[in-house]
Amino acid sequence: MDKIIILDFGSRLTALLGRRVRELGVYSEVIPGTTPLAAIVPGGPNRPDSKGDMVRGIIFSGSPESVNSKNGPVPDQKIYDCGLPILGICYGIQRITADHGGQVAAMPQREEGRVEVKGKFPAPADPVFDREKVGRFFTGFDNYSLDQIKKGAVRGAGASANGVCAAGEWSFISYMAHGDKVERIPKGFRQYAESVSGCPSVIVHETKPIIGLQFHPEAAGCDRGLEILAGFVFGVCQSAPGWTMEQYVNEICSSLAKKVGKEPVLLLISGGVDSTVTGALLLKALNPDQVHLMYMDTGLMRKDETKSVKETLERLGARHLHILNCENEFLAALKGAVDPEAKRKIIGDLYITIQERETARIGLPETTFMAQGTIYPDIIESGRAELNGALVKSHHNVGSPLVDAKRRAGRVVEPLEKLYKDEVRILGSFLGLGKDVIGRHPFPGPGLGVRILGEVTKEKCDILREADAIFINELKKRKAKSGKFLYDEIWQAFAVLLPIKSVGVEGSKRVYTHVLALRAINSTDAMTAEVYPFETKDLLEISRLITANVKEIGRVAYDISNKPPATIEWE
Ligand code: XMP
Repeated sequence: MDKIIILDFGSRLTALLGRRVRELGVYSEVIPGTTPLAAIVPGGPNRPDSKGDMVRGIIFSGSPESVNSKNGPVPDQKIYDCGLPILGICYGIQRITADHGGQVAAMPQREEGRVEVKGKFPAPADPVFDREKVGRFFTGFDNYSLDQIKKGAVRGAGASANGVCAAGEWSFISYMAHGDKVERIPKGFRQYAESVSGCPSVIVHETKPIIGLQFHPEAAGCDRGLEILAGFVFGVCQSAPGWTMEQYVNEICSSLAKKVGKEPVLLLISGGVDSTVTGALLLKALNPDQVHLMYMDTGLMRKDETKSVKETLERLGARHLHILNCENEFLAALKGAVDPEAKRKIIGDLYITIQERETARIGLPETTFMAQGTIYPDIIESGRAELNGALVKSHHNVGSPLVDAKRRAGRVVEPLEKLYKDEVRILGSFLGLGKDVIGRHPFPGPGLGVRILGEVTKEKCDILREADAIFINELKKRKAKSGKFLYDEIWQAFAVLLPIKSVGVEGSKRVYTHVLALRAINSTDAMTAEVYPFETKDLLEISRLITANVKEIGRVAYDISNKPPATIEWE
């Protein structure tokens, strides 16, 4: 199978890059940026490895470091002469520049977000390393559809003479996130585009297949980003698509089986998509007798959640299902806690304490592995050190010191750690999970604990559970303009109980009741989110239903903040 190697220099977007290439149907592997060439292509370039896989090209990721800092990671310099096509993204273009004697300098102001890129330099018909290949790369910016690029529409001479690229004046909206820029282009390279503020945005070597991009084609905000990557993967690297979910599942299953051996594995199931898919994977990869699925009803669950989780897990064929009722313990531990991080820590630590206690009670040995449904965005948002992410919120499933201890002992398995949410859903559907499970909106580990702002009490949990259920049921009943049910059109929706009361009227009496906020957003990977633009009628009717049926709530507000600046959850 053909594969693309991604050299990771530490960008938050590296895993996304890997996933975008896989989305194109070509296998990709993310490895450390400093990996020696001999380890990237053990049998030499353009030779298949022992598994029959063939590296077709190398992509340099971005990085939070500067090439001018001594911490800036440096690739094996032999890579530049191995003949394999190279695409440098952001830090990648700067790395290529610095490594070839060009100059990179700090900008007075960072270039961030959607930025226009203009191509007003010699069109790719110029004699460059391979006129045809460069032409095929530029077709990514051109008018070809992704399907046409994949099917090889851009193969053959003359591809570069088509469309906007060859016209010499073309532009598109890229996605940028950089504080350094290419100040002087290295000898032997040509510039093909610049940003509106004058930064070189596309450079290409004159004789070697080396291309640098200052922007991020992998980011959702980059117009034609996937087509640009396809121009590289198919046009320049000539990769053949051969990557399927089936192969991926086989790969995860065999690495799980290898790591875990015959030891038992314990998975804490939250009932959400991630942990359920993890459970399904464990049951597929291992002997179901090894797999212990533990579900804690923390008292912070949504309405009827425990019942439906139990049914799903039984359907999955679980043999060791441990359903625990821990409501009193969680509520007692949370008493008096108001700080969001403190609440998360209490919940996370108690999860582990109970897990250890219950593991002992069930009689699972010390050597038991712990599985987690951690997905890639959880890891970067929790700032796991080696990924250079900044701490935004400590997610309970990666932030607890007790989990870290298991991790240090090498006894944590996180089979979804490289995947984004929508990939997890595709995987779940491949594993045969029903739409009711894989179509479920994400639910945070700390549950209603982070949706009741301020102190958490049983009474508040009950109020929120009722209101949330009304909101969600309405979304499942009502249709959007597209004809789809609102629940399926929205990526995540939930209700939040605010720590304030407001004045209202009930009959002729003044009452002092809770305020509820509704949140509904669309997102692809939870890294950014946009508020869902409801029809006013839907919001008004849902609000009326909630206040009519939950007497403790007298006022409903709709949260209209995107992420960023707001996060999806309120705490
Ligand atoms: P935020 O609020 O950080 O949420 O924008 C991004 C996505 O992650 C979910 N989330 C969590 N998931 N443990 C989890 O497993 C957590 O502590 C946690 N906090 C937020 C959130 O629901 C959204 O989908």
